[in-house]
Amino acid sequence: MAILVSGGAGYIGSATVERLRAKGEQVVVLDDLVRGYRAALERDVPFYRGRVGDRALVARIAVEHQIEACVHFAALAYVGESVAEPAKYFENNVEQGVAFVGALLGAGVRRLVFSSTCATYGEPEKMPISERTPQWPKNPYGWSKLLMERLLESYSHAYGLKFVSLRYFNAAGATERCGEHHEPESHLVPNGLAAALGKKPEVAVLGRNYPTPDGTPIRDYVHVADLAEAHISALDYLRQGGDSDFLNLGTGRGYSVLEVIECARQVTGSPIPVRIEGPRPGDPARLVADAALARAVLGWQPVASDLASILRSQWEWQKKHPQGYERE
Ligand SMILES: NC(=O)c1ccc[n+]([C@@H]2O[C@H](COP(=O)([O-])OP(=O)(O)OC[C@H]3O[C@@H](n4cnc5c(N)ncnc54)[C@H](O)[C@@H]3O)[C@@H](O)[C@H]2O)c1
Repeated sequence: MAILVSGGAGYIGSATVERLRAKGEQVVVLDDLVRGYRAALERDVPFYRGRVGDRALVARIAVEHQIEACVHFAALAYVGESVAEPAKYFENNVEQGVAFVGALLGAGVRRLVFSSTCATYGEPEKMPISERTPQWPKNPYGWSKLLMERLLESYSHAYGLKFVSLRYFNAAGATERCGEHHEPESHLVPNGLAAALGKKPEVAVLGRNYPTPDGTPIRDYVHVADLAEAHISALDYLRQGGDSDFLNLGTGRGYSVLEVIECARQVTGSPIPVRIEGPRPGDPARLVADAALARAVLGWQPVASDLASILRSQWEWQKKHPQGYERE
């Protein structure tokens, strides 16, 4: 029996594959490599290059590898791109997602861990954000994830699907092997560290007039290794007969963009120049998690997510991989 990891060649997916294999699990990866890297996975990981909406391929993988559960990371995940090109997001994340979950159920796979996001909440007034906070996304990316959550809930009632939807706040940091490398890179941590390495002249700060103490957006950063661990706990929970649920993954502590850059300066010893730009469309001012439910349901607690450790781990990774992963 094996676990199918869609989007397993991406940032969070590859770190989760690494952790699952370290625990002795059989893992199969399905990824179309539009945003991921084969090099992020060890050579002996069974790998299929294809889209999650390819029902015949998913059915074949499920039978050939006796898939018992799925972790569904595959998605497009740029807020700004989703505002400019919403059709791309609804096609890739929703249309393909519907086909994917349908093919899994058709093949008898009834356990699913889903990558959801704090972007499904939009911009709530009250912080921290709990799972009872109303969801009203501010951008098409968030809507695409919320639609998938509604689908999972309906399928869970009607078809016996058991799922855990993990709403991550901001993933960051690296393991020994797997680090953050997107192309184009829109995330603050790798961009700030690229400036420290001299790969970029400076790091962009997108907006300085948000209603926060220093005027820059506040986010809750979670180490990718802690996220990987949460997926393993969620799979165990489903195997033990746990009920479908939606769980936030965050630390409960938020940092502004300028605070992250200041911490990166301390970790790297580099001045990291900044360039102030206009705000990005669809970006809320503040997103901080109440993750008490994940602790209660999964026993999950972040252990590697203090900001300096996050930055140090990604800094080590970027020094070893100054160009990121190689494309094949
Ligand atoms: N990075 C974050 O801070 C964050 C926060 C909240 C939620 N998420 C969610 O977590 C998941 C992983 O994020 P990430 O940062 O690792 O992104 P990523 O882009 O590094 O990984 C996504 C992977 O999915 C693959 N993919 C995309 N569409 C596909 C399709 N139709 N068929 C097959 N493969 C496809 C890409 O090639 C890529 O390897 C995404 O679903 C994202 O929405 C990420």
